[in-house]
Amino acid sequence: MSKLRVAVVGVGHLGQHHARIASQSPHATLVAVVDPGEARGREIAEKFGTRWVATLAEILPEVDAVQIAAPTGLHHALGLESLKANKHVLMEKPLAATLAEGQALLTALQAKPKLVAAVGHLERFNPAVKALSDRGFKPRFLEAVRVSPFPMRSLEVDVVMDVMIHDLDLLRALVGAPVVDVEAVGVPVLTPHADLVNARLKFANGAFATVTASRVAQKKERTLRAFADKAYAKLDFAAQKLELLGLVMGPNGPEIKNEQADIEEGEPLKLEIEAFHRACLAEGGETVTWEEGLEAMRVADQVQKAVARSLEEMLKGKVN
Ligand SMILES: NC(=O)c1ccc[n+]([C@@H]2O[C@H](COP(=O)([O-])OP(=O)(O)OC[C@H]3O[C@@H](n4cnc5c(N)ncnc54)[C@H](O)[C@@H]3O)[C@@H](O)[C@H]2O)c1
Repeated sequence: MSKLRVAVVGVGHLGQHHARIASQSPHATLVAVVDPGEARGREIAEKFGTRWVATLAEILPEVDAVQIAAPTGLHHALGLESLKANKHVLMEKPLAATLAEGQALLTALQAKPKLVAAVGHLERFNPAVKALSDRGFKPRFLEAVRVSPFPMRSLEVDVVMDVMIHDLDLLRALVGAPVVDVEAVGVPVLTPHADLVNARLKFANGAFATVTASRVAQKKERTLRAFADKAYAKLDFAAQKLELLGLVMGPNGPEIKNEQADIEEGEPLKLEIEAFHRACLAEGGETVTWEEGLEAMRVADQVQKAVARSLEEMLKGKVN
């Protein structure tokens, strides 16, 4: 089977990993990396045995697919350019900078039904998450925490679009129903945008979740607790660990059984990118769709609006 010809567009902090993984993918050939920064572009191209070009237009005729890891503000333009040239697209998250741009991408895609268009919600590919979904766990209440020390990057957006969006997508996928109601509070701490946000989500099937995202924590923590009927799951994204507790009938009556799921560790980004390559080659490979990417953005937008309302109230109350 012939390999997919790919270009990685934007080789900054995350794009360098896209280039590494694409260069090693058994399903793809990394034809080029694209970046307006020549020094950075050449450095990454040399490291992963490919060539550098400055613009997407130069390489589109030579590839089947693009992996876009350029700044979010450029997703819309780069995505439209790639679709117009009939290329499959893996777009980093969030799908676009605004809901209108995300919707425009989706509309353009609908005219190209043969193309694969994926969005980089990589936690879906975390082996611990996969282990939880494979068990058919039906959560009624979930609690997601994603906090880290101040990153000094991605500060042009708030913590919702940058960080919480991972959980907004994942929770909906785990619950299997859309979000119907959102309440949220949040505060700017070190930037003009909300750096710490807590949201409460209600899903169409009656499930609830609380989600906390912060980039002003002292330590990194990325965890999920999920509660179902007579069962409880505790997931650590970074350690790729899943602990399950359930009520079972023991020899002396009901007892709690504690199980550490057997997980084969894997790099979520690699699993995501290789699944995209396989999907483009029509060799299987599940991806997170642009519809799902836009849905996560819609919920993120509702969280941001609720945070803005809570801040207005706070200022009226003169907490400053
Ligand atoms: N999935 C995740 O967990 C995750 C993590 C980090 C970043 N991201 C996303 O990845 C994207 C990039 O983030 P980053 O932190 O790597 O940013 P970055 O600023 O480190 O890198 C962006 C790169 O894109 C290049 N670039 C700028 N204009 C370009 C253009 N027209 N064509 C090609 N390249 C261009 C820049 O020169 C830079 O090298 C963002 O959308 C971000 O939200 C996702």
